[in-house]
Amino acid sequence: MTDRILLVGATGFLGSFVAARLMERHPVALVRPSSETSVLPRGMELRRGSLNGGPLPLDGISTVVYCASMGFGHVPRSVRQLEQRRISRALFISTTAVFTTLPSASRTPRLEAEAAVERSSMDWTILRPTMIYGTARDRNISRLLRFLKRIPVFPLCGNALWQPIYVEDLADAVVAALDSSDTVKKVYNVAGAQPLRFADLVRTAGRAVERNVTLIRVPLAAAVLAAGLTRVVTPEQICRLAEDKAFSYADAARDFLFAPRSFAEGVACEAEALGLARRAPPRVEPRR
Ligand SMILES: NC(=O)c1ccc[n+]([C@@H]2O[C@H](COP(=O)([O-])OP(=O)(O)OC[C@H]3O[C@@H](n4cnc5c(N)ncnc54)[C@H](OP(=O)(O)O)[C@@H]3O)[C@@H](O)[C@H]2O)c1
Repeated sequence: MTDRILLVGATGFLGSFVAARLMERHPVALVRPSSETSVLPRGMELRRGSLNGGPLPLDGISTVVYCASMGFGHVPRSVRQLEQRRISRALFISTTAVFTTLPSASRTPRLEAEAAVERSSMDWTILRPTMIYGTARDRNISRLLRFLKRIPVFPLCGNALWQPIYVEDLADAVVAALDSSDTVKKVYNVAGAQPLRFADLVRTAGRAVERNVTLIRVPLAAAVLAAGLTRVVTPEQICRLAEDKAFSYADAARDFLFAPRSFAEGVACEAEALGLARRAPPRVEPRR
């Protein structure tokens, strides 16, 4: 079979949702010996390989969807291989973290990775999501929900804007962007429906697990000092919490009808999936 899709990062949090949506197109998953393949849809073809070196398994592949991090320096090498093997279409998942104004070790390799993609001769598209949440596999909101269910008290340090994206909405966006010719050679920010202040995010998460959360304000300077002394989190992580992370997705809405759900809707689904709340209300589909 030719003209197949190679899904890089298929076993990851986002990748497994994308895999499920692509199944009817008989995609191929790139996996390592250590990959947890039980998260993949049954019957998905697996091909061994690694981004760390060696050739990517590209026989019969015409399209690549790249859901592995672009922050580890391996993208320029991968792009060279894709071009040599005449891959025609490629979609890459970057991150809105490239916009941070704070010191970040991964920012430069991510920007270099995006530049390598943009210089390539392929029909490429880059999606930059904000923080992704939605199941026990996320490393952020699931922890917050479990914590708030047990202890509905939370420190508030700064009150920045956040706009996390629900994993199912992002997986839908990957497929829609892949299928649209309007997205070729373009970069899109993708985020949740509206930005919300961190205090509202925590209160909304609390409501999803049926708790009224008490917020205790902690001055940013004191939190940075405490982080430096205790080393539980780094001062940089505290500063990042306080940095605004709101992004317009108007281009994505125009080009591939991206219409994400609100955080209230997404977090209610997640709380229910985690067994921390009663059934979430059904999603009201946005009018297109
Ligand atoms: N999670 C977030 O909140 C967030 C926010 C913004 C942007 N993003 C971006 O969204 C994308 C998906 O994130 P995610 O959280 O779903 O990632 P993830 O759960 O950490 O999954 C990473 C995937 O990449 C694969 N991978 C890593 N190193 C590899 C290598 N050397 N060779 C082959 N495969 C390798 C992993 O395979 P194994 O199963 O073998 O480990 C896994 O399938 C990434 O580009 C990330 O930067 C994520």
